[in-house]
Amino acid sequence: MKDSKAISVIGLGVVGLVTAIGFAMKGHRVVGIDIDAEKVRKISDGVCPIYESALGEAMKTINIEASMDFEKALDTDISFLCGGTPGNSDGSISLRYVKGPARQLGEVLLGSTKRHTVVVRSTVVPGTTEKAIVPCFKDSPDVNVCVNPEFLREGSALEDFMHPTRIIIGENNKASGDELLSLYNGMKSPILRTNIKTAEMIKYASNSFLATKISFINEIGNICKKMGIDVYEVARGMGHDERIGAEFLRAGIGYGGFCLPKDTAALAAEARALGNNPEILEGVISTNNKQPLKMLELLRKHVPNLGGKTIGILGLAFKPETDDVRESKAIPIIEGILLSGARVKAHDPRAVPNFRKLFPQIEYTGAKEVLDSDAALIITEWDEYNYLNYKGKVVIDGRRISKAMEAKYYEGICW
Ligand code: UDX
Repeated sequence: MKDSKAISVIGLGVVGLVTAIGFAMKGHRVVGIDIDAEKVRKISDGVCPIYESALGEAMKTINIEASMDFEKALDTDISFLCGGTPGNSDGSISLRYVKGPARQLGEVLLGSTKRHTVVVRSTVVPGTTEKAIVPCFKDSPDVNVCVNPEFLREGSALEDFMHPTRIIIGENNKASGDELLSLYNGMKSPILRTNIKTAEMIKYASNSFLATKISFINEIGNICKKMGIDVYEVARGMGHDERIGAEFLRAGIGYGGFCLPKDTAALAAEARALGNNPEILEGVISTNNKQPLKMLELLRKHVPNLGGKTIGILGLAFKPETDDVRESKAIPIIEGILLSGARVKAHDPRAVPNFRKLFPQIEYTGAKEVLDSDAALIITEWDEYNYLNYKGKVVIDGRRISKAMEAKYYEGICW
């Protein structure tokens, strides 16, 4: 392909793997680099190491080299740092999967006379790239660092890569920004070129706003429930206003996943460190932490003596179409049920292998068997749950599966 580039993608989690496959599909030569030998082996064999729709199919149409050797980055023009930034207990982010690879890349590029652009794709709080990543390349004058945040959603990550809602480029050198932008040739998405820390903040503010919308509609749902109003009807009425937008107004047990909880907490922690008092962000977080506990209140209301009872859980993934259970609301809910002395039977079409690592002691079975319990809680809105027979059952719904309203007893968390 004309002006195709040689790209290295460092860190082959969801973001790195999708970035590598996406750019390879656009005709660039891509080498993926990771420290996980098993992951590298699988990708080298053309096997997708994660459950992500369309990714396995896409891997059959392109080939990307996968390696554990950082030296491979030397014969590429541009390197993407895609390591995860897990949260610390105080909400701040851990940079171990970003700074470590950046240092290794800096060593590999040391003395290289070829121009090279390093792109921080990891979600890092504003100021991180200039403080912690740029210094890793200070002895390589021809190496420039940019920021290019991603807005990929699990379950539709490749689609989101191919059709980004916007392309954000944070740069301190026009030539490197131009080079990064050239990779997106042909995409019709709006482009914003800005400075590095503004690009970092756009990612955090975007995710924190999405989290805010969810906690907002959950708070409205909690109020509506006491007023006998259907918050889903309210959301429909709100969504017609483009300033509000119809998306992310589904009330329920709150947001989970690897991103929204961590990014919102990290931004609040950063704000506090600056001496600010991020009341809104802290309210969003607090509402989200309390929301799933309402499921336990409803459960106790309808199964007063939980000791020795059997409670069914429908859904373990943090959302449908993924096997990811990080920050899944099933975690605090199942913890609460086990503490009350009840047994748990759980179902999820995809996430059981991951969830079993956290809760080896509970029973995993079919959705129908899960319904044969003293009560069943709906935690993830997998499509197949719209086709179960809930008649004669006791159902507490955290995700608005309307079919479940046929149950003998049905109650929604905030409807
Ligand atoms: C999110 C952002 O959407 C994405 O742009 C960013 O790049 C990464 O983080 P993701 O975490 O994959 O993506 O999932 P998302 O679809 O945003 O859902 C996050 C959580 O919010 C899920 O637990 C989902 O169940 C919950 N949610 C979402 C609601 O509770 N109500 C809604 O209306 C929407």
